[in-house]
Amino acid sequence: MTHGDEMLKRAVAVAHPNIALSKYWGKLPWGVNLPAVPSLSVTLAGMRTRTRVTLDPSLDADRFELGGTLVDGRPLERVGRLLDLVWRESRGERPAALVQSENDFPTAAGLASSASAFAALAVAANAALGSGLSTAELSSIARRVSASSGRSLFGGFVELPAGRPEDDGLPARQVAPPEHWDLRLVVAVTTEGEKDVGSTEGMNRTSETSPLYAAWLDAAPVLHERVKSAVLARDLSALGPAMEQSALTMHATALAADPGLLYWNGVTVEVMRAVRSMRRDGTPAYVTIDAGPHVKVVTTADLAAEVRARVAAVTGVLRTIVAEPGEGARIVEQEPR
Ligand code: DP6
Repeated sequence: MTHGDEMLKRAVAVAHPNIALSKYWGKLPWGVNLPAVPSLSVTLAGMRTRTRVTLDPSLDADRFELGGTLVDGRPLERVGRLLDLVWRESRGERPAALVQSENDFPTAAGLASSASAFAALAVAANAALGSGLSTAELSSIARRVSASSGRSLFGGFVELPAGRPEDDGLPARQVAPPEHWDLRLVVAVTTEGEKDVGSTEGMNRTSETSPLYAAWLDAAPVLHERVKSAVLARDLSALGPAMEQSALTMHATALAADPGLLYWNGVTVEVMRAVRSMRRDGTPAYVTIDAGPHVKVVTTADLAAEVRARVAAVTGVLRTIVAEPGEGARIVEQEPR
């Protein structure tokens, strides 16, 4: 190993989950995990992943602990892949690492814990391994492992463009900082169970079998531009309809896959109805839904308490969580050799 002197022994980073206002769903047939459509998310304060990376020469392989429990299989492989990308092969053999990660929010809350997890890991690994990569480079690396995690490197409102033929490195980028717009997101948790088909498998099945996928590829960039302009203009009455259409078109496309992907339960639909009824009463609130049954309702800071109470009153809603725009992934502790 040539860069040993620059290496830190241990680093701890935190990162927040993000929620897409315009959705990423589908990958390009070339490159490494390049999104087929652009997406725009908001990084959420209040919930976080904290990840410690400790280089340990006595280990013969990486170890990954999530919430104090040793994890192997695909999650451990993805952790190893991210560490390899942050290390860069030209530096010779990478030292093995102990990765300890904790979420302070329930993984079943449908708040893409993988996004905050890989963002925190990229930042902690960069410091521990002394790689000196920029936030954009770390975003591109995290995006290769799980595309939505590339967005959690940045705070506030974050765009991940669609891949292009020449893209090898494709990072997300911040379009506006957290203080740009004091939006609130009310999460309605509709089940404690884990989702049945993960995002990667769901979007691959959609692109391979859904007759509506071509229509999604046409519609998504247009909806994305509407979402982006509305965010930049802080215009909830323009954001809401475009954001809902992005989510509903994604779900329509997935429903038409073979076999169809039905991510909703009955409570998901009831919350959507409740939000429509709020709008009829003059309360601006709009929904978005990821690859699971929970509903996220976007509204303004002054109406968040009212919207939360009305969402919580829907029969079957187990819990509600209110989140606001937050910061990107960052180091909180590091320890030199
Ligand atoms: C519905 O980022 O989890 O949440 O790149 O295969 O790891 P991979 O997929 P992932 O997909 C997220 C899909 C989504 C929409 C979004 O976050 O944009």
